[in-house]
Amino acid sequence: MNILFSPLKIKNTTFKNRMVVSPMCMYSCVDGYANDWHLVHLGSRAVGGNALIIQEATAVSPEGRISYGDMGIWNDDHIIKPREIVHFVHSQKALMGIQLAHAGRKASHHLPLDGAKKIAPDHRNGWQTVSSSALPFREDEAPPVALDAEGIDKVKNDYRDATIRAEKAGYDVVEIHAAHGYLFHQFYSPLANERTDKYGGSFENRIRLLLEVTEIVRDVWPDEKPLFVRISATDWTEGGWTVEDSVKLAVELKKRGVDLIDTSSGGNVPKATIPSEPGYQVEFAAQIKKEANILTGAVGQITSAAQSEEILKEGKADLILYGRESLRDPYLPFHAADELNVDVNWPLQYQRAK
Ligand SMILES: Cc1cc2nc3c(=O)[nH]c(=O)nc-3n(C[C@H](O)[C@H](O)[C@H](O)COP(=O)(O)O)c2cc1C
Repeated sequence: MNILFSPLKIKNTTFKNRMVVSPMCMYSCVDGYANDWHLVHLGSRAVGGNALIIQEATAVSPEGRISYGDMGIWNDDHIIKPREIVHFVHSQKALMGIQLAHAGRKASHHLPLDGAKKIAPDHRNGWQTVSSSALPFREDEAPPVALDAEGIDKVKNDYRDATIRAEKAGYDVVEIHAAHGYLFHQFYSPLANERTDKYGGSFENRIRLLLEVTEIVRDVWPDEKPLFVRISATDWTEGGWTVEDSVKLAVELKKRGVDLIDTSSGGNVPKATIPSEPGYQVEFAAQIKKEANILTGAVGQITSAAQSEEILKEGKADLILYGRESLRDPYLPFHAADELNVDVNWPLQYQRAK
């Protein structure tokens, strides 16, 4: 019996297998609007047999975008195209997820094809960034403005409104992006947070904003729909956020109705040494799953069916997320099924290719 192609039920939502397309920015939007690229890109991966496709980091506010090409969900018209995308993905018996994001001090960048460099606030296509503290990610960058009480309330309201729109658009899963050195990570990691108010200092204070936003999102996101949080399990840096901190955070997130921790790492400090190799983040997912007693997703250099199956069999994670491998191969699940000798349904239109 294989696990990779066995279903998983979370609340009222059934994942037909354990294969998930990891959220990946396409940097292809204008003013935050999705277009035909997203329909075809995300739609192909639904045709390809994935259980869940999580859409790229989708900014809850214009200043929360990594770049001016990011997708957004800060106004009602932003969900016109996603409705079409969700409808198509559902027609392929796949689930559609949205990652709700705010990049904080890592916002306001050029597109990767233009070098992905930071854009100064006064430059065309740039804007003033915000964060927990007025500390830039890189020393030579323009510093962010530390969020005051009003700014923190805005972040909370933006997440509430974005979640309501996500529900209206028909998404099945919301994932809060709290990893990779973006806004929530800038609060929970001591390496980015120098606040002296109730959002800084102790562990409880540093995780406060993420917990408050989680409560707000859970409150407006239907009870029967899964809520994921992506975290960076470690800063990979002495004195920074640790896996033990992540376990404690996961316990608190679970109490607030989070169903799964999507376990990534790093991104908060430019100079961290990350031992990137096959499955390098899997042990973090395993530790969080075991010690916080919550479902986890494993991600990071997981490329084959055998590797995925082993992670699941060893009880280290419940879902496997594929990033670059699913860019290389939109039909990854069909190829994984071949590898494991599992009979899965290809789309009727493709039966003769089997
Ligand atoms: C082009 C690209 C864009 C990405 N954008 C996002 C994103 O929007 N949100 C996110 O959490 N991670 C993002 N990531 C990270 C991936 O989701 C994934 O965690 C990472 O690539 C490691 O998995 P992999 O080794 O299977 O690629 C991105 C990665 C790539 C390659």
